[in-house]
Amino acid sequence: MRKSNEKGDNMNGNSCTLVIFGGTGDLTHRKLIPALYNLEHDSNLSENFAVVTIGRRDYTDQEYREELKQSTKSFSRFSLNESTWEKLQNRLYYKKLDFTNKDNYCELNNYLLTIDNLHQTGSNRIYYLAVAPEYFANIVDSLRSDCMKVPHAFERVVIEKPFGRDLESATFLNNKIVNAFTEANTYRIDHYLGKEMLQNIMVIRFANIFFEPLWNNKYIEQVQISSNETIGVETRGEYYEKSGAIRDMLQSHMFQLLSLITMEKPNDLSPTSIRDEKVKVLKELKNKNVVRGQYEGYRQEKRVADDSNTETFVALKVEVDNQRWKGVPFYIRTGKKMPKKSTEIVIKFNKSDNLLYDSTHLSDNLLVIKVQPMEGVFFQFNAKKPGTQHKIIPVQMDFCQNCQVGINSPEAYERLLFDVMRGDQTLFARWDEVEYSWKFVDHIIEKWIKEEPHFPNYKTGTWGPIEADELLTEDNHEWINLEGDL
Ligand code: BG6
Repeated sequence: MRKSNEKGDNMNGNSCTLVIFGGTGDLTHRKLIPALYNLEHDSNLSENFAVVTIGRRDYTDQEYREELKQSTKSFSRFSLNESTWEKLQNRLYYKKLDFTNKDNYCELNNYLLTIDNLHQTGSNRIYYLAVAPEYFANIVDSLRSDCMKVPHAFERVVIEKPFGRDLESATFLNNKIVNAFTEANTYRIDHYLGKEMLQNIMVIRFANIFFEPLWNNKYIEQVQISSNETIGVETRGEYYEKSGAIRDMLQSHMFQLLSLITMEKPNDLSPTSIRDEKVKVLKELKNKNVVRGQYEGYRQEKRVADDSNTETFVALKVEVDNQRWKGVPFYIRTGKKMPKKSTEIVIKFNKSDNLLYDSTHLSDNLLVIKVQPMEGVFFQFNAKKPGTQHKIIPVQMDFCQNCQVGINSPEAYERLLFDVMRGDQTLFARWDEVEYSWKFVDHIIEKWIKEEPHFPNYKTGTWGPIEADELLTEDNHEWINLEGDL
């Protein structure tokens, strides 16, 4: 999604110290350090680079490195090679510190200066907030305290999801961050944007002549966007209770998928042009119907209330109110404890009256963008069945990216960390994207609270409550599941 080499000649990450708040957390162990290892493996880290992770537990650097080595063994896409690990661990440090106490930041800065000097990082800093969201504002304030002031070429802040829990809290957080760091130095993570196939959506749409002319309400009957998970809330009950499927998945990941599918062609490949177009469609969203559900057994999960009213599934119909899309329903669904893990976008084309053959005997033209677990593009069209009879049958072309290009696509975090180091914001959510998606979600939640306090359960291993099917049958449509249906 970027213009090749648009930030100049720097094909490696820039010189900097990456400071991770939340050094002992799951994200650091499972995603961030393995991602750095993969970047090291591919020689994508600058020679002048160091990582300092901050946590409250006691560790020596050596003990900490040993733990991270084990995590990297388990979670990295490349198997662990001793000399590559050695190279990374020699620039990996652990600092014990209570980051909630502003008074500790002078000590932190002195420590960081030592590391900056040792690795010649130019005191450029990336602060990665891999901690619970309640600490975000406090850390940002402390990072602005007088003793953190050092001349740098750049200073960037990376904020993990969730960015607020409604428009009001997101705006409060945003004001703090942007006042302290400016929008140009703020990187709001939506890890879906780091996935290969999300980056591929723009290429599929805008690098091929045959999709774009059909990409409108004249030729497209409906679009379905699904992200299904087989897992439940696992150990995250406390967070999920305050979130639910609509805040956890819809406001961020699902709207990113939707805006990449529906956006107009940007003027160019710069982050500004791309994000300008993405946000326009978020402003044009119109909500039709929403269905939510909770999987049976959710209330018995750890740290979940006995009478919890948190949805673990949400399905909705929306329209994009502009000339291109007017009248085309977009059905979106996401849920936990579903029959299979899959994220897919199904584009179903109209059976045009303008064809030579009677459309009632033709199958649907479908284009499916498979985001995960398999990455690829599936296309269904009509063709003559070989033989003496003139029979038309549906045939499929299935481009499996994992099979052809190799199963080892870079992980989302690898891509995203690399981009923060290079200063490329394309794959990060800009504030107005976050703002408009919260506006939309807040509106739905307010309505639920006022008018629809009760909602159905669904059995684990099913496609959500029956009402989610009815959402489509009302329009004479049905959910299309790539495996099984086709
Ligand atoms: C996270 C959500 O952002 O995305 C989780 O908080 C969800 O609840 C996860 O499980 C899904 O990510 P992926 O990459 O497995 O589809």
